[in-house]
Amino acid sequence: MQIIDGKKIAAEIREQIAAEVEKLVADGRRRPNLVGLLVGHDGGSESYMASKTKACEQCGFQSSLIRMAQDVTQDELMAQIRALNEDDSVDGFIVQMPLPRHIDEQAVIESIDYRKDVDGFHPVNVGRMSIGLPCFRPATPSGVLMLLERCGIETRGKHCVVLGRSNIVGKPLATLLVQKAYPGNCTVTVCHSATPNIKELAREADILIAALGSPGFVTEDMVKEGAVVIDVGTTRVADASRERGWRLCGDVDFEHVAPHCSYITPVPGGVGPMTIVSLMANTLQAATGQVYAK
Ligand code: GUN
Repeated sequence: MQIIDGKKIAAEIREQIAAEVEKLVADGRRRPNLVGLLVGHDGGSESYMASKTKACEQCGFQSSLIRMAQDVTQDELMAQIRALNEDDSVDGFIVQMPLPRHIDEQAVIESIDYRKDVDGFHPVNVGRMSIGLPCFRPATPSGVLMLLERCGIETRGKHCVVLGRSNIVGKPLATLLVQKAYPGNCTVTVCHSATPNIKELAREADILIAALGSPGFVTEDMVKEGAVVIDVGTTRVADASRERGWRLCGDVDFEHVAPHCSYITPVPGGVGPMTIVSLMANTLQAATGQVYAK
């Protein structure tokens, strides 16, 4: 059994990105520029943003954070997005989700110029991804694929079971893993809250990906001997023994599942760091016009 060290792999990729950025700068180009837009002060969103800012520094990117009040209007938010769409010094930007309830999230996503949509949430990027065209891929699924690739895990002909059908993780992972590519060429099953026999299906997986946000959902009896288990869950659970009062908890009962796996990702230190580095990779591609010509 091998524990996949997402933290180490992410650090290696960050170094490669940083080296490419220094080459760009040596060629007289400006540094890639990523802007984050944060509405309100959600705890999870604040820490994602802090990690993204730190990763930008490590990659040699320019970055900035625009804060807007929790009671910002749809019009004010859209006006800010239009300004970022039109600002040629900005290569990519992200609007941190979730947004307050009074904001129409889908309208916000669709107002972003898809050529700057480094989150890969815009329908143009989603559609292009689904038919295998160059696009920005959403960061978490892209990070999962990078892990599979970096670990040299065979995916062709394997049965991949994805638990969860969210627009940002489950669905795009299924889309990517079914494609004729490496990593890919899997037979994919997507399970969700209306699937009656999740346990049986999970047990058939060669590659089991848990993206439910349900701590400890995947138990020992749901995993085939020798399976690859990827845990995308990152739920904050109360933990009085920690100074901050919480810890991150994955969807997999790691302690009991790990002995049965060929590979498994831990939480924290598995998929999480890869998500951030995927966003950095997308931003570099946005800056160099590799996906959409500048
Ligand atoms: N909220 C949780 N994950 C993400 C992400 O990848 N991008 C954005 N913009 N918001 C998120």
